[in-house]
Amino acid sequence: MTTQNQKSTINNQQSPINNIGIIGAGTMGSGIAQVAATAGCTVKLFDLNQAALDKAKASLEKIMTRLVEKGRVTEEEKARIQENISYVNALKELADSDLTIEAIIEDLGIKKKVFQELESYVSDSCIIASNTSSLSIASIASSLQKPERCVGIHFFNPAPLMKLVEVIPAIQTSDAVLKISEETIKSWKKVVAVAKDTPGFIVNRVARPFYGEALRIYEEGMADFATIDFAMKSLGGFRMGPFELMDFIGNDVNYTVTETVFTAFYYDPRYKPAFTQKRFAEAGYLGRKSGRGFYDYSEGTVRPEPSKDQNLLENIKNRIVVMLINEAADALFLNIASAIDIDNAMTKGVNYPKGLLTWADELGIDNCVNALDALYEEYGEDRYRCSPLLRRMNREGKMFFRN
Ligand SMILES: NC(=O)c1ccc[n+]([C@@H]2O[C@H](COP(=O)([O-])OP(=O)(O)OC[C@H]3O[C@@H](n4cnc5c(N)ncnc54)[C@H](O)[C@@H]3O)[C@@H](O)[C@H]2O)c1
Repeated sequence: MTTQNQKSTINNQQSPINNIGIIGAGTMGSGIAQVAATAGCTVKLFDLNQAALDKAKASLEKIMTRLVEKGRVTEEEKARIQENISYVNALKELADSDLTIEAIIEDLGIKKKVFQELESYVSDSCIIASNTSSLSIASIASSLQKPERCVGIHFFNPAPLMKLVEVIPAIQTSDAVLKISEETIKSWKKVVAVAKDTPGFIVNRVARPFYGEALRIYEEGMADFATIDFAMKSLGGFRMGPFELMDFIGNDVNYTVTETVFTAFYYDPRYKPAFTQKRFAEAGYLGRKSGRGFYDYSEGTVRPEPSKDQNLLENIKNRIVVMLINEAADALFLNIASAIDIDNAMTKGVNYPKGLLTWADELGIDNCVNALDALYEEYGEDRYRCSPLLRRMNREGKMFFRN
């Protein structure tokens, strides 16, 4: 246990909740444990697999040592953060938690079973949260005797570095549970975006056209991977181009997310996956992790040169950005989140150069509507339909933030 004084050197805003239980010590669970421990909370990290616990502990030691070397934390802070986490191999050990965050395998049946067992150990006031990326919080909550204590708390990878956390109340979630969850995550120095319990929440929904429209542009033969990436980085200001990012995430993982979102939206053509990515995944061209994806990552390989045709680059950038804006506007139209939260989600969750609704204001709502209408006119496909909100705003001369 740490004292109040010690805590304040790490984080001067105290967490309203102190005893945190984390279920699953993989990529996400270990990162979330680090975040909570850094905020001064007492954390119990549980995994069925002892090797996962050992790995999480060793990896935290490595991360903290690096932070000390960089001068980001002192030796004392490192020791305190590490002491804040205990590694446990029985779910029962989480009995005294005030908040538990589950980050195990993405399987509804397994999650439900774990939640039921957990509820038999914890107190009535314990909040039970899931870090799921794709399952509905309502369905997870339905496994509990007290579903009103369940909420989605969705961190981004790597959890200690990414500022955004989506907090997702299910229809069963009580207002008090939502409020304290938000306050707790904010006290951990994260930016909270509250999202409706709908497929992909905010980020994994709004980001789809970044991949989908880039793949479509490639499939039409308008440009190659390198040119599309160059357009998005040089003109769009994105840190990585769509194909570099898909290679980084893994074509198997990214394709599956797209397919899941597409299915969950009852096959809305806006989210339609691309054969190109499916074939790359099937071929085992998964990206960096397999040494080859859209690009070849073997030693000494020279990247293809992008085209420098400014007209082409502008067209590519505008087409992808306007599709992203349309998706963000539609998320607002359907009350998935507030305008501020939608913008924060994309800048703090996936490092977009600016919020998409802010971007729409800068480009001009009329220009966005005209660009979408031109795409719709050319292709006659429903994926290019303009959000009713953008059209209404254009009619009324409104902007998202400036009036
Ligand atoms: N990886 C990401 O980028 C990311 C981002 C946001 C959310 N998520 C979500 O977070 C969750 C975890 O993802 P991850 O990438 O950390 O997975 P992971 O495979 O790295 O870790 C999962 C851990 O859970 C453990 N586990 C599995 N079943 C268990 C059980 N019944 N009881 C206890 N432990 C169990 C495994 O031993 C493993 O250590 C998933 O729901 C995923 O959708 C992942």
